[in-house]
Parts: sequence; C-alpha cells; structure tokens
Amino acid sequence: MHEIKKGMTKEEIESYVNFILENMNLEEKTAQMSGYGFFKNIIMDRGVGKRVYEAAGSEKYKIPPLKFIDGPRGVVIPGSTCFPVSMARAASWDIKLEHKIGDVIGKEVRAHGGNLFAAPCINLLRHPAWGRAQETYGEDPFLLGEFGMALIRGVQKHNVMATAKHFAANSIEKTRYKINVKMDERTFREIYLPHFKHCVEEGCATIMSAYNKIRGKYCGQNDYLLREILKKDWNFRGFVHSDWMFGVKDTVGGITGGLDVEMPRAKYFKYKKIQKALQEGKISEVMIDEAAGRVMRTILQYVTREDPQEYDKSLIGCLEHHNVALEAAEKSMVLLKNERNILPLNVGKISTVLILGKYANVKNTGDHGSSNVAVKKVVTPLKGIHDYVGNDIKIVYDKTKDPKRAKNKAKEVDAVIIIIGLNHKDEGEMIKVFGTGGDRDKLSLHDEDIVLIKEVVKENNNCVVVLIGGSAITMEEWKEDVPSILMAWYSGVEGGNALAKILFGDINPSGKLPFTIPKDPKHLPFFDKNTDEIEYGYYHGYTLFDKRGYEPAFPFGYGLSYTTYHYSNLNVEVKEDKLIASVDVKNTGKVTGTEVVQLYIGLENSNIDRPIKLLKGFKRIQLQPNELKNVTLEILIKNLAWYNPESKSWEIEKIDYYLFIGPSSKKEDLLSIQFNLNIK
Ligand code: BGC
Repeated sequence: MHEIKKGMTKEEIESYVNFILENMNLEEKTAQMSGYGFFKNIIMDRGVGKRVYEAAGSEKYKIPPLKFIDGPRGVVIPGSTCFPVSMARAASWDIKLEHKIGDVIGKEVRAHGGNLFAAPCINLLRHPAWGRAQETYGEDPFLLGEFGMALIRGVQKHNVMATAKHFAANSIEKTRYKINVKMDERTFREIYLPHFKHCVEEGCATIMSAYNKIRGKYCGQNDYLLREILKKDWNFRGFVHSDWMFGVKDTVGGITGGLDVEMPRAKYFKYKKIQKALQEGKISEVMIDEAAGRVMRTILQYVTREDPQEYDKSLIGCLEHHNVALEAAEKSMVLLKNERNILPLNVGKISTVLILGKYANVKNTGDHGSSNVAVKKVVTPLKGIHDYVGNDIKIVYDKTKDPKRAKNKAKEVDAVIIIIGLNHKDEGEMIKVFGTGGDRDKLSLHDEDIVLIKEVVKENNNCVVVLIGGSAITMEEWKEDVPSILMAWYSGVEGGNALAKILFGDINPSGKLPFTIPKDPKHLPFFDKNTDEIEYGYYHGYTLFDKRGYEPAFPFGYGLSYTTYHYSNLNVEVKEDKLIASVDVKNTGKVTGTEVVQLYIGLENSNIDRPIKLLKGFKRIQLQPNELKNVTLEILIKNLAWYNPESKSWEIEKIDYYLFIGPSSKKEDLLSIQFNLNIK
C-alpha cells in the first residue's frame, strides 16, 4: 500500500509516482501540467503578487499543489523582507551572505504557505541597458553560477523548490516575447549556459523557460534547449515551467519541446487540447507521463522531507530578517572614487551637511515588475543619515531640482551629498499598463541630474554623489568634477541605515562591481531594445574590453575601501584535479577592511580564440590594519575547459596558462604567474 509520509526515500517516491501514473487517467495527468486560479485571484486581490499561485497537485493521490511565489528581491507577498536587488548582492561577492538571504527567503516562503520560489534570475548581463539587469548577478558566468547556487541552497534548505530563470539568453526586455537570439554553439555553451548548468548540477529543483526565441524557436518549446541540453546532457531530474502568459505558443510545440508545466493557467496544456494532439499522433503518452512524473516526483521530494524548523507567520519581515537585509546593503555598496579622502565624513570635523537629489527621501527599492517586494516603509537615505548623526551634525535637506538654488545652498555647508540615479520608470520588467520598466534609453544619468551635480560642485567641492540603480551608469560628463562617488544600488528596506554607516565610516565599503562600467557605450556589444532579432557574440563585458584593449571607466571587480591592500607572493600548484593558488594580502592602511581577492585564469597562449582572462575564483577576507593573511584559492582544472563544437565536448588545452590574482580585473591591479598542467 502506498502512503505519503515524511522521510520517504528516493525509491519510495519513484515507486509511488509510477503507481500513480499507472492509475491516473489522462485528465488527471494533464492536471499536473498547468497552473490554475490565476485570473480569479488577481481580480479578487486587485493585483498580482499578493498570494501564492497554485499549479498541479492531486487530492485523490494526496500530492500537494505547487505554491508559487515570485522573487528575487525577497518574497514578493506584502510584509516580507525587501533585500537589496540581486545585482547589489552580487557586488558583495559574498556567497555565504547570499546563502543566508536564501535561508531567510526560504523561511518567509514557508511562512506564507508557499513551496516554490521563482528565483534566482541568472540571466547574463550582456548589456547594461537591459531593463531587468537588477534581478541578476552581473556579467560573468562564474559569478552568476556561484550566486545562483548560493541562493538556491539557502531556499531549498527549507524544502522550498527554487527556480533558475529565465532559461535562456533572456537579456533584452522590450521585445522579450518575440526576440530571436542567435549565437554559435561555443558562445551558447561557454557564455550563456554554464551558470544554469552549475545550478542544475547542484540540485536546483525547477527551471523557468524564457519568453524569447533561441535560434528561431521559443525557449518554452525549444527541444534542443529543454530536451537535448537540459534533460539529456545535464541529466536534469526536476521540471520546467513556462514564463507566464506568453511562454507557450501551442500544445504540440510545448509538449514536444520539453516543457512540463504551463504557467499560470492552462491555455495550451488543457486536457482537451492535449487529448486531441494525442489522438492525432502529434505527441505521445510517454511525453505526458514524463511531464506529470517530473512534476509529482519533484513535489514529493520536497514535501516529504523533514522540515528543519517550524514556519510561523511571525517570521515574515521580522527584525532578524531585516538585519540580514542591512548586512547585504552594507556589503554591497561600491566606492568608485574617493579623492582627498572625502569619505568617510568626519563627524568631529564637519558641522553641516546638505542632502540633495530626487532619491534622498523616497522609497526606491527597484522595479515594479514581478520582483517588486511590497513594503510599506523603507529607511530612506535621509532617514538613515538623520538617525545616524542625531544632533552631532546639522543636516539640511532640500528637495529642489533647481540647480541655482542647490548651488546657493551648497555655499553654506561643509559637505554635500547628492542622491540620484534611476527608478522603476527608467528600468525594470516592463509592465505596459502601468508604464513602468523596460530597457534603458541611455546609460548616463538624466540631464537634469548632471546639471545639478555640475552646478553644485562648482560651489562646494566636498561633494559625494550617491548613485541609485541596477546596473552600469556612465559618468563621463561629470566624473572628473566630483571627488567622491558611491554606487548604492536599490538597497532594500534597510538601505538608508547602511548608507549612513558607510558615509560616516562605521562600515568600510567592500563592494566590487559585478560588471564593467564603460567610458563610451560604443565599447559595449550591439543593443537595440526594439529589435526582433539579435546575434549574441562570444565577447561582452570585461572579456570584450580586454580583447579590444578598451579602457573602462571602472573595470569589472573594481571597488575602493577606506584602507589600502598590498598583494605579494603569488604561487600556484597543480595537485591532481585542482589548481591551488596562494597569495599574501596585507592591510596597509589605518582601518580594518574587507577585501575581495579575485582570481583570473589567463588564456592568451591559447591555440584558439579565447578570452584574455576569465574569473575562476574569489574570496572575501577581513584584515585589521597591518595584518597580513595568506589567502588560498582552489580551482577545479575541469573549469579551464572550452567547448569544442566539432567534438561536442569540453576540452582542456595543453598550454602555458597565466594565473592572475588581485583586487579587480584591471591588468595593472593583478599579480601574475605562468603555469602548465603537465598533461601529456
Ligand atoms: C516574469 C517572471 C516571473 C513571472 C511571474 C514573468 O513575466 O518574466 O520572472 O516569475 O512573470 O510573475
């Protein structure tokens, strides 16, 4: 007799799923392949994202339904903890922290009654104008894989299924429903897929297909992508669900393409339509059994595991969770420029600070699309600064947009902080009815903000520009005029507190850019938000800048600190299947700091066309003043492979490689050493 109980083994689950499949009729099986109740719920709720959305499940066979909740900024249902956006978190280069965020999210999903979290988003940032850049972790496949996996592990610890999305090559927003992305096989395997593969290998429960086409076929019905690569090559055992509404185009295409669940409702995966396709011999019952089997098996794997704890509603948005959001905001901000050590502001030395800029005192936590975590109140920059300084410093806040007035005000103070950048209207998931989101029209600040900065610095040169946004902002028009620039991102519910601590030196900034900021947008790959077809090349981000010799405004991996570090004694050893690199890092400044040590493998001697270097490891280390640490980083040799489209396999070259270690991807910042793998 079959019974669902906690602690079921893999074999027991398998045998139960087989038993159900033998007994279910076609209608019951197809019910596993779609969501339901969506429209009824949004009408009732007067909006989306206010509750969990259900799919699949069977009362008769005691299979609980999927209970879907969106992310990745946090759990989107109102009241949950709003974290800094994923791009900000990537700038922390702290995967333990991302795991902790996943852990909090997992608990909040369970407390809301959910069992499926629609994140991480691990689409590669090919171009910073991409509207949803803030939802992902940057331009580098290795970084994307590490962060995606950290979030997945944290979430899944609480028996919540995570979803790596949007599979694959989804990096333009406006035409996402129809754009055809072309690329050669090497680019596909080496640049756009490795992070998904990593997440699958490490046990990500589900995959959400993308809206766009790849090589002429929609991703939600792309048999090469879903059947050949994901399910066969990578041996993915979970299920694939569609991106919402427009992710499936027809019954036969979806089912033969390898999609298992149509979300959020059955349009093409309706019983009658599937039955007809079966009768016409266009799909087979094996395909239906496979899809329904994958869904039920995955649900059972998660709901029958012992829970590590209970999930009371009081967990949602609790103080402990807000503290994790605070830690994330503190670790994510990137100090880009700090001439004359303007920062940190010294409470003993200054008495008045002027705060300007349109994002100084508003809630601005990121886009208003599916990742929007509805929070009533956030700590704005102004509130954070006020609370931090108390009566020690006079804070003058002026809402003005008028540069003349701002300039006059700046005359009377010791320092000026200008908080500007972007919001949900400039970038984000495009929600046409509300007129929000979409890809960015330009990479610079808005003209009025540039004028404001330029006028104010004329009058007061103790000026800090704090940038809010989800990806690269170009700064050539004003960068040289301003002594201090801090990238603060969309920093979540505690963002203002974190900002104040950084500005006044309580926290030493440690964030590093997860993307390249160009001087000239012409140095970036071609991007056209209106295009219906695009070719993705092998190079983008720092690999493109390296190859072409372009100088970025700020390189990938870059970020300053209130202290300085010295790197020496680089060594590398090849041991069995690993490279073991070590380097000494010393804090040569006056305050404690955290450095992100980055390791790149140099491929200049390759016999084929390969990047100059690729990120393959990183570590965050804390150092007291004068402290020296020997840092060790291990890399699996298999991670040096390239994809040979002719042999259809990953190959390791027998060449002299370089190993680079340093504080950013900039050549001058890196120590280097040559090595070979001694392969015969
Ligand atoms: C987005 C997904 C999201 C889904 C459900 C889609 O439009 O692309 O990221 O999970 O909606 O809200």
